[in-house]
Formats: sequence, C-alpha cells, structure tokens
Amino acid sequence: MNFVSSAEGLPTKILVELERKLESAVGDDPFISEACTPLLKGGKRLRPILFLISSRAGGSSSYEKLLPLAAAIELIHTASLVHDDILDASKVRRGVSTANAKYGAQVAVLIGDYLFAKAFEFVANGHYGDEVSAILSRLVKNLCIGEIKQDLSLFTIPTLGEYYERIALKTAIFLSSCCRLGALTAGLERSMIEALSSYGMSLGLAFQITDDLLDFFGDEALTGKKLGGDLKSGVITLPILRALGSEELRSIVTREGISDGEVERAIELVRASDALMYCRRRAEAHVEAARLVLPTMIDPTVSKVLEQAAAFIVDRSW
Ligand code: FPP
Ligand code: MG
Repeated sequence: MNFVSSAEGLPTKILVELERKLESAVGDDPFISEACTPLLKGGKRLRPILFLISSRAGGSSSYEKLLPLAAAIELIHTASLVHDDILDASKVRRGVSTANAKYGAQVAVLIGDYLFAKAFEFVANGHYGDEVSAILSRLVKNLCIGEIKQDLSLFTIPTLGEYYERIALKTAIFLSSCCRLGALTAGLERSMIEALSSYGMSLGLAFQITDDLLDFFGDEALTGKKLGGDLKSGVITLPILRALGSEELRSIVTREGISDGEVERAIELVRASDALMYCRRRAEAHVEAARLVLPTMIDPTVSKVLEQAAAFIVDRSW
C-alpha cells in the first residue's frame, strides 16, 4: 500500500503542485539542483500530507495558501535526513547515494543547511504568523535534542523509557506538529487542534517503531536502506531491547566497530526472537490510540483518510 494513494481525501492536483514546489525549492543554483533533486525524490510525503489532511478536518481549506508550508515541512524533513546520514555514515537512502557518500560530510552539512534555509524562506513568504514559527522551531529543537541524546548514548542499552523519549523527540513530535499546523492554519478550534496533535503523536510513535522493525525485517529493495544500519551505527532500538535475552546479541550491539558478519548474526538473533510480534503489537497499540483520539466532529472524508494513514503506518514495507 502506498501512503500517497491512501491520501485520497486530497485532490491529486495539490500533490502534483507540492512536487513542483519542491523542485522549485532547489532551482536557484545549478549545484544545489543537481545535488538535491535526487534527495527529494522517492519520499513518502507523509509529513506534508498529514499537514494538508489535518487542515481539512473542519471542511475545505485553501491549499494555495498552505502549499509553501507543506513544502517547507518536507524540506525540513529532508534537511534532517541529510544531516542524519552524515551522523550515521549512511551511504544509501531512498535507493540513491546519500549526500555524504557523494560529496563528503563537509559539503553534505551545507546541503542540509541550504534545504533548511529554503524551508524558512517559504515560511517567511507565507506569512503564517508567530504560532506557526514557534511550532516549527520547537519541532526542530526537539529533533536536534533527540539526535544528540541518541548520539551520546550509542552502543549503550537504553531503558524502555529512554527509547520512547528518543523516538518521541526525533519522530513523533514532528508528525504531531504537522497535524497541529494543519488544524491551526485552517483556523480550527483548540479542542480539534489538540486532538489532531495527539493523533499525530501516537501515529509518530507507531511509525518509528515500524521503522526500527524494518531495519531487521525489511526488504532493502523496498526500504531503499541497508538492513542493520541502526545497530551498525550503535543505535539500540526496540527490536534489540526485546531480543536481549540473548547474551550473544548483547555483546555484539554494545561494542563499537561491529563487523558485517556480526551485523548479520545480530539480525539473525533478533529474527529468531519474538521481537517482530512484540514490536508490531506495540505499534498497533499506538495506532489504536491514534484512532481513538480522532474527534467525532471531524469531516468524515478526512477521518477516513486519517484512519487509512494509521493502517498504512504499521503495514508499510518501506
Ligand atoms: C532519521 O531517523 C532521522 C531523524 C528522524 C531526525 C534527524 C535529525 C537531525 C539530524 C537534527 C536536525 C537537523 C535539521 C537540519 C533539521 P533514523 O536514523 O531512525 O532513521 P533512518 O533509518 O531513516 O536513518
Ligand atoms: Mg539514520
């Protein structure tokens, strides 16, 4: 199932225009255009779609006005992935070479900064007001804190609470902010804004748990990323926590400089445990929480799409 096709509550035109807006974002400079066009292709557009759908929760909304903010959201996400790939030394994302693999870490940092700056150009030109800027700045600060916490605790086994804090900071708050921004810019009442934001938070937790599962159980051709990337870079996720009954696994994941053979062995050990079932159940519980919090007064087409989005989050294979 494709997330975009599940977003049938949105006119196709707006999604085509979103792609155009993203292309235009990297069109000012030939090097940026060459370097960034492949990086912007192939994403699920989950964040801007959640933003746009949430903006329709009270009925129709003016897409023209919201498009620059939708594009800015995707640009912030892409900038964060460019920087994340430097931190993780990842070579492939979305099936193509990462900026750091192609141009080295120094240039890649600046490519990420450029995308980030362009996002704020779109936001400034859209005149969305102080609350929108405050939400965006809070979400980026949380992304940074999440990444810092993760980087300062590589190869260390987190508690369940620490794991959840990390995935909230680096993913769930972002998804929640997208829903909040949609509801806010559409002028919905506070109770709807809070409910949609809470929906996004639960969805985000489910999304990151599924992402962490895909690192062990995914198909590289579909995810566009190498299996075992998290554990190779020292990020200890929920599937590993669940499988830690194995002393062998514990000794592999807590040691820096894991060999490719050890990565394969660790994947085998996680696969042999009940981590898949356990993590899926956890993700499904968050999706259920997301469904339950959806306000009843929401536009029925929108609520159907938000339900489909929730189902996609746990069933996705990419
Ligand atoms: C991917 O997670 C990365 C993130 C969710 C956030 C990265 C954030 C930063 C580097 C800081 C913010 C920077 C800017 C410019 C806004 P993952 O590593 O779990 O997933 P992956 O397997 O897709 O890499
Ligand atoms: Mg990463």
